[in-house]
Amino acid sequence: MNVMVIGGGGREHAIVKKLRENPEITALYALPGNGGMAREAICVPIGATDLTAIAAFAKEKAIDYAVVTPDDPLVLGAVDLLEGQGVPCFGPNKAAAMLEGSKAFAKDFMQRHNIPTAAYKTFTDPEAALSYVASCPLPTVVKADGLALGKGVVIAETREAAAEAVRAAMCEGKFGHSGETVVVEEFLTGPEVSVLAFTDGKTVVPMVSSMDHKRALDNDQGLNTGGMGTVAPNPFYTEDVARRCMAEIFLPTVRGMAAEGRPFKGCLYFGLMLTPQGPKVIEYNCRFGDPETQVVLALLGSDLFTVMRAVTEERLEEAEVRFKKGAAACVILASKGYPLSYQKGFEIEMPEDVRPHVLYAGAKEKDGKLVTSGGRVLGVVGTGATLPEALALAYARAEEITFANKFYRRDIGKRALEA
Ligand code: AMP
Ligand code: GLY
Repeated sequence: MNVMVIGGGGREHAIVKKLRENPEITALYALPGNGGMAREAICVPIGATDLTAIAAFAKEKAIDYAVVTPDDPLVLGAVDLLEGQGVPCFGPNKAAAMLEGSKAFAKDFMQRHNIPTAAYKTFTDPEAALSYVASCPLPTVVKADGLALGKGVVIAETREAAAEAVRAAMCEGKFGHSGETVVVEEFLTGPEVSVLAFTDGKTVVPMVSSMDHKRALDNDQGLNTGGMGTVAPNPFYTEDVARRCMAEIFLPTVRGMAAEGRPFKGCLYFGLMLTPQGPKVIEYNCRFGDPETQVVLALLGSDLFTVMRAVTEERLEEAEVRFKKGAAACVILASKGYPLSYQKGFEIEMPEDVRPHVLYAGAKEKDGKLVTSGGRVLGVVGTGATLPEALALAYARAEEITFANKFYRRDIGKRALEA
């Protein structure tokens, strides 16, 4: 079968590697992929949001199955377009991707279905939003409605900061159309858990839980990033919590979307906070998380392609989705200066036995060599019977990799170990 994966980061590399385990896949393309994954997939220089070119490529190569991974093509309707020309896809259609595409939609949806989440108000008028943040409880959380490269959330400790966040989104167009509507919500506290789940619109099968590390520096200091490392499972996510989440969050979400005529098929990401009042939804993503996927798929014992097709064909109930015992850790090696400004183009070197454990995010080929091409350069994975073993392996491998300006957090998994 000819399969294409849309996207080009570390998450996509993890997916590509896992798909490679299925012998039915004869040709595997990544659009655009990146130089680091060129051993496992044929990388094609078509951007993940260039839907016209993607659709034409699918025709030209007689693609039998497409995995649409990033948020923007999903929200733009890549799945609708490809399915319209007869290509089965893994990923939600445009109507279902709204769960991530619009925070206002997601919040109203949760309210309609009694799904626990932070109290909120939605604004389309900047004056009304400014007047609200002038007297709301602090800290408060200001969120741009639409996709904003993970930068659309501001936790404001002061009135000035809240007003500034509102003005940046609504008056100064910092996030373009994404910020024309703003959600202001209650500040919640508690450990965060990421749960990715397969769902075919009827059945929901949560994957092993994980924990992201979003801040750039050790001890959760510094700016928010796309994620500096992950561990799985997340020790805060006990069996008790899992049962509650299934009853109060996962099933109501999947059933609610189906009831509203937007059945969600694909990977649904639940960003949860375990508050003193119980688990609450911080955000939905309509896709696999990055870098959660890097640890979650490291523990997936079943064949990914088989599960994906069961999702597409709405047979998830019959599918075997098994996770291995033990733990996984992923340490992101970034370029110094990330997430602000950083240099690129430095040669990456590593021992050949480390390479199978590396998932490339920002790397490209130049004159036959791999060089850095992004802020998050690669993710180094370790697995083991216990989290300390997994972490020790990931860190030992991380140290064997060299490139100029290499930078990484030294405390991935620390909070999980303390739990
Ligand atoms: P997001 O970009 O939606 O993933 O949000 C980024 C981060 O902001 C989350 O991972 C949380 O740590 C934090 N956050 C978002 N919403 C809230 C909230 N209502 N209360 C406390 N923290 C929040
Ligand atoms: N790791 C968070 C995300 O993928 O949105």
